[in-house]
Amino acid sequence: MTRLLVWDIPVRFFHWSLVALIGLSFYTMKTEGAPFVFPIEIHARAGYLLSGLLLFRWLWGLLGSHHARFASFLRSPGTMIAYGRRLAGARPPIFAGHNPLGGAMVVIMLLSLTFQAVSGLFLTDDIFFTAPLNGLASGDTVKTLATLHSLNSNLLVALIAGHLLALVLHRLKGERLVGAMVTGRKTLEGPPEDEPRQRRAASLYLALGLVVLCALPVIWLWKA
Ligand code: HEM
Ligand code: HEM
Repeated sequence: MTRLLVWDIPVRFFHWSLVALIGLSFYTMKTEGAPFVFPIEIHARAGYLLSGLLLFRWLWGLLGSHHARFASFLRSPGTMIAYGRRLAGARPPIFAGHNPLGGAMVVIMLLSLTFQAVSGLFLTDDIFFTAPLNGLASGDTVKTLATLHSLNSNLLVALIAGHLLALVLHRLKGERLVGAMVTGRKTLEGPPEDEPRQRRAASLYLALGLVVLCALPVIWLWKA
């Protein structure tokens, strides 16, 4: 058995902030939104923060530590199918980072979340809230984006349910993944099929630089 650091601090911070802000986004739209007097304002602000977080995750997927990089977990469809077949067996293959199916799911979730956040920036509730980029699109485009924002929010619910179901299935197979997203460390029963390596020098400074960079559009949206 080996215990490895797989999820760096930025990935963990990204994940749990994402969970909290998506919860807030749905809460403010699908309920009365108490105690907020103007739930749509809170919904939009959660969306601005989510936009910054997502921008950070896309950049971190290119520049971040090994298991955070898309190149380390995006595999060919053939590899995904082969992994799916082996998953059904008694001893599922061991991966340090995202497994081939999980990696695809992560990118699909990031795409859907990014579409949700960006489309929201063009919307209006036709009462008193108008999002910062609303003026850039025609009335018809805004209507289409509103429909897509609503449809994609249902897709997100399905993706999140699939994500949680996958975690339960892995747990039934004996893989404990949730603790690793909290502590960053994963306990592996044997040698992983992907690269176990993780640390790279100065990544924390790079992360801080990117956080500052991604905060700039968020501040602009917040004040617009
Ligand atoms: C990933 C982030 C976001 C999520 C998960 C999200 C989710 C939702 C959901 C579930 C609805 C209700 C759809 C329906 O029931 O048909 C909605 C509506 C809406 N959202 Fe978002 N949204 C996000 C980002 C944003 C952003 C950034 C803005 C604006 C800056 C925004 C503005 C709106 C508006 C104006 C509505 C329509 C409200 C109405 O018709 O009264 N959303 N959103
Ligand atoms: C709003 C709900 C959620 C969303 C949108 C979401 C999204 C994501 C995303 C995008 C990743 C990839 C992380 C990265 O590489 O940056 C991920 C991974 C992960 N999430 Fe979530 N998540 C949600 C809820 C949860 C919850 C409630 C848990 C725990 C109970 C959880 C546990 C995990 C774990 C363990 C991983 C790593 C999976 C692996 O080992 O490959 N997630 N999630």
